[in-house]
Amino acid sequence: MNKENLSHGRKSIRANIKPRALIEEQPDLMGVWRADIITLFPDVFPGILGSSLTGKALKDGKWQLHTHDLRSYGIGKHRSVDDTPAGGGAGMVMRADVLGRALSDVSQRREPCPIIYMSPRGKPLLQERAKKMVDGSGAIILCGRFEGIDQRVIDHFQIEEVSIGDYVLSGGELAAQVMLDATVRLIPGVLGNHESTEEESFSNGLLEYPQYTRPSVWEGQEIPKVLMSGDHGKVASWKKSQSELLTRDLRPDLWTKYEP
Ligand code: ADE
Repeated sequence: MNKENLSHGRKSIRANIKPRALIEEQPDLMGVWRADIITLFPDVFPGILGSSLTGKALKDGKWQLHTHDLRSYGIGKHRSVDDTPAGGGAGMVMRADVLGRALSDVSQRREPCPIIYMSPRGKPLLQERAKKMVDGSGAIILCGRFEGIDQRVIDHFQIEEVSIGDYVLSGGELAAQVMLDATVRLIPGVLGNHESTEEESFSNGLLEYPQYTRPSVWEGQEIPKVLMSGDHGKVASWKKSQSELLTRDLRPDLWTKYEP
């Protein structure tokens, strides 16, 4: 569609002086765990979080997601958000003034909460971090692109940097969805009664034991007899020893910390 088509039928065209972010304000669900995402790609949210358990919980108002288009805080006709790095170097850096405006604006519209910047330089995301996050009112999550963001913004807003692993993604959006999934499923009532977080991997510092279901024999392999014995005590100790063996073999780093 060209520009002429766009204005076709309108009596007049007036510039709207309100930033886009204010026009698109979604209502706040008071007291409900809230994630505010600042991103250049608001359309990729809720993404995977809109499906399955997290998606149902979002629809049911058990948590809320507010996206903010960083471009609407950009500078000039082109709503520029980045510039060349001071001192030279490859790529572009997200501007402090643009990010500062976005962060101040979003912070003012919600309960106080941590500001997190998804970054490969950050502290690794662990189950403990997700548990801690769920206890608060939520988080403002900044998704970077390009070479990173101006350090002054990190210092000024005391932003916490969080990484989802030692590899570099093209931007923070996927990482934010990973962190939110790990967090939102811990909100009371998001998982059904039958989906427990108590026995899953990392909840006790160990990996989860192996699981089996029907058929009782598959490709010549039987389900371990103890699981069919009906002896709850024996089943529990089998699960524990399997967890310990798996952790020792697959994750010696976790095993060292566990010290049975
Ligand atoms: N952005 C780019 N890479 C990332 C990573 N590994 N974790 C979090 N955010 C990122």
